[in-house]
Amino acid sequence: MKATLVFWLFAGLRSLAAAETIAEINGNRFISPYSGKTVTNVTGLLIAKGPDGIWIRSTTPDDDDATSEAIYVYSKTVGSALSVGDIISLDGKVSEYRSSDSYIYLTEITSPKNVQVVSTGNAVKPLVIGKDTLSPPTEQYTSLDGGDIYSVPNGVANISAENPVLQPTKYGLDFWESLSGELVTVKAPWAVKTPNKYGDTWVVGDWTVTGKNRHGGVTMSDKDSNPEVIIIGSPLDGTKNPSNSKMGDQFEDITGVVQQAYGFYAILPLTAIKTTTTASAAAPPTTLLSQGKCKALTVGSYNVENLAPTSAHLPKVAGQIVYYLKTPDLLFIQEVQDDSGPTDDGVVSANATLTALVGAIKDLSNVTYAFTDINPVSNEDGGQPGGNIRVAYLYRPEVVSLYLPNKGGPTDATKVVAAQGKGKSLDSAPTLSFNPGRVDPANPAWKDTRKPLAAAWTAKGASRPFYTVNVHWSSKGGGTSLHGDQRPPINGAVAARTAQANVTASFIAEILALDPAANVIAAGDFNEFAFVQPLKTFAAVSKMVELDEAVKTPVAERYTYAYDMNAQALDHMYVSPALAKSKTTRFEHIHVNSWAAFDDVVSDHDPSVALFDVCG
Ligand SMILES: *[C@@H]1O[C@H](CO)[C@@H](O)[C@H](O)[C@H]1NC(C)=O
Ligand SMILES: *[C@@H]1O[C@H](CO)[C@@H](O)[C@H](O)[C@H]1NC(C)=O
Ligand SMILES: *[C@@H]1O[C@H](CO)[C@@H](O)[C@H](O)[C@H]1NC(C)=O
Ligand SMILES: *[C@@H]1O[C@H](CO)[C@@H](O)[C@H](O)[C@H]1NC(C)=O
Ligand SMILES: *[C@@H]1O[C@H](CO)[C@@H](O)[C@H](O)[C@H]1NC(C)=O
Repeated sequence: MKATLVFWLFAGLRSLAAAETIAEINGNRFISPYSGKTVTNVTGLLIAKGPDGIWIRSTTPDDDDATSEAIYVYSKTVGSALSVGDIISLDGKVSEYRSSDSYIYLTEITSPKNVQVVSTGNAVKPLVIGKDTLSPPTEQYTSLDGGDIYSVPNGVANISAENPVLQPTKYGLDFWESLSGELVTVKAPWAVKTPNKYGDTWVVGDWTVTGKNRHGGVTMSDKDSNPEVIIIGSPLDGTKNPSNSKMGDQFEDITGVVQQAYGFYAILPLTAIKTTTTASAAAPPTTLLSQGKCKALTVGSYNVENLAPTSAHLPKVAGQIVYYLKTPDLLFIQEVQDDSGPTDDGVVSANATLTALVGAIKDLSNVTYAFTDINPVSNEDGGQPGGNIRVAYLYRPEVVSLYLPNKGGPTDATKVVAAQGKGKSLDSAPTLSFNPGRVDPANPAWKDTRKPLAAAWTAKGASRPFYTVNVHWSSKGGGTSLHGDQRPPINGAVAARTAQANVTASFIAEILALDPAANVIAAGDFNEFAFVQPLKTFAAVSKMVELDEAVKTPVAERYTYAYDMNAQALDHMYVSPALAKSKTTRFEHIHVNSWAAFDDVVSDHDPSVALFDVCG
């Protein structure tokens, strides 16, 4: 009786009196129901020790998959007199920690006091993911993403504010949150990409993985951005993960604790990852070969990452163009810097940069490219300050040449001009008022970004010109990660890219309105995935077809970039209906960079090569 009375009297101060289980402290949501409160006599098995704290697992688990049975106790000193295998009890304060307001919170116990050892030498068994736990969901991240993590508008809700109930069978972040603090084992792990400079390595284990590509990366697709991939962070024992692992490398089983760290759910391994099998970094060169005439013309595209005349990677880019792209007849390149590189000195010409690239290619291949580009107005096109990056074309003049060349300046908008002639004759084809020329450069959609470069060409043997638009749309900079607090995550500059898509597409639509059978190729770094708003707008307005879709590249092989957990396609070719239907049309992504180890990466993007019949 008396005890009951005391209990009710102190109900308001329950947090001072009763012992909460770890599952109760974590609760079934992202944020603890005890956040900010003091808890006493929290009892758990010490499952791991780290430099700044310990992890304990409940000795009185519940049977709810949504409530983690483990928790981090933050204190540099608490672990010093304790050992893994001790069952301990302690008092402390439940805190929610994050070092940036774009991150999800970590639930932890801080200021531990009255630490008592209940028993020692208990067995510590990690939970094998997918066997002792649920398997990670493979497609969706959270219930706040509306079924599509790339839907617009972005950032309509914050996990920290909504604090949704965890659904660990459906949503990836809910799954990892439901294991927060747990000691887990990843069986038969392999790397899906190169680690970052700290050795943090994205892996999957022996659970169900969707989007696995032939090399062992995991490729995103429409409404599937791979929450089953998890990052292995800094080892708890102070060792270092290998810095040279790469897509497809296999590792020994990894055991560590699940922790929200630097904005990502991570597994902090007890010790460094050990590689068992290394994947080959030798990307096969393109199989697409030019016939040196319109019947079989090769077209490449490559973002060469801030290429300047003195760039250490310039000879390597040249080597890739020669040995892997097989010196395509026409090459769209992006991110060419001016002759003084990133020095901000008013120089805008890229003649020295392009001359150096063409010279390096010639040295290796005896192929002499011509080039064309249009200098931007200094510092108006975004990118590295002073670098004045632009898109450019390299072309083999013995195979392709500009049709009625008339190079425009930075502020000249090239116009599609209807021709006088009739039928299929050359003089009946639409022309460009500036060739090459920039597409609507004064349009506000292009503020602080690269203007597309349009050109009309004739290929050897062709009866009609073909048309190209080389793009480098605004980057995703300023966005938030797929593991971030804002939902759906902020897709940086998505509105700008949608506007850029419309301007680019409207220009192409004018060509196709005059000549629905025209051969048109738009290629480059669109900085967007084909299934996201900007490229949906682009395809709808232009009637262009994504080339991977036209040639039915397996969905998992559609990637030109590896970022965080995903292999993904930021670079594309889009072609007009005539080229999409043509039996000659082929397309290949050449994974010279996404398969390479960190130190061997030449550019952050992979190049691609296509084969077309552009005769007429
Ligand atoms: C602390 O909890 C344990 C069980 O978890 C119990 O045996 C013990 O009596 C509790 N101690 C106090 C002081 O409440
Ligand atoms: C989400 O949190 C961020 C950072 O605190 C804030 O800027 C933003 O307005 C919040 N979004 C919503 C929808 O409340
Ligand atoms: C470009 O550079 C080459 C090699 O330095 C030089 O011969 C040529 O005159 C330059 N062209 C222009 C337009 O400056
Ligand atoms: C280099 O190219 C030129 C012009 O196409 C050709 O005449 C010459 O035979 C080639 N030389 C070699 C070594 O391939
Ligand atoms: C594209 O731009 C035009 C002209 O500004 C506008 O009328 C149209 O609604 C836009 N279309 C899309 C899909 O954004």
